[in-house]
Amino acid sequence: ADTRLDLDALADWFTATARPLPWRAPGVTGWGVLVSETMLQQTPVNRVQPIWEEWMRRWPRPSDLAAESQGEVLRAWGKLGYPRRALRLHEAAATIAAEHGDVVPSDVETLLALPGIGAYTARAVAAFAYGRRAPVVDTNVRRVVARAVHGAGDAGPPSTNRDLADVDALLPAEDAPAATLSAAFMELGQVVCTVRSPSCERCPIAADCAWQHNGRPAYAGPPKK
Ligand code: ADE
Repeated sequence: ADTRLDLDALADWFTATARPLPWRAPGVTGWGVLVSETMLQQTPVNRVQPIWEEWMRRWPRPSDLAAESQGEVLRAWGKLGYPRRALRLHEAAATIAAEHGDVVPSDVETLLALPGIGAYTARAVAAFAYGRRAPVVDTNVRRVVARAVHGAGDAGPPSTNRDLADVDALLPAEDAPAATLSAAFMELGQVVCTVRSPSCERCPIAADCAWQHNGRPAYAGPPKK
């Protein structure tokens, strides 16, 4: 990977300090990760956690969810918001049950072909459930890359291809280390390299951070044409 960031330090930091979230426990299935990543896209961790636990108890496999009515699935979604996500999961569950032996696929292409599964979710499932090398890009990761690599205060407007290429260039070639780093970049953005009060003194990659070297300039807005 073409970077001077200390990725070993980042991986060690993640291994030592990652929050013990239930969807990160050993033995969580691809289904568990698909449900968690769908819930986490627009809802914070602390609100997702109890609902995810209830879903896993009630519907431990995709076929269990697929057998429910839409109304019951929506009711169990509760107050997570953006309830279309629940219907998309319901639809994906039916396809996984019917066409994939009730097992969530592990490669990005097959995941992307499922109904309602987008670029973020497909890569998050491949990386976090199956340990695949897949760049996982959310707003936290985009901010970490904007700062550490590009020296800017925050990321510009999203651009799926450029954002994926940026993170892809950082990841090592091997599946397992790359998957760990995908999770580590996200965790770093959530707990250390935050929007308003980054804790650079606790950051494992501060020594080589381009934003640090630039004196931590504020976000300058999207690039002018
Ligand atoms: N946000 C999105 N995915 C997440 C995960 N796996 N853990 C914590 N926060 C997340």
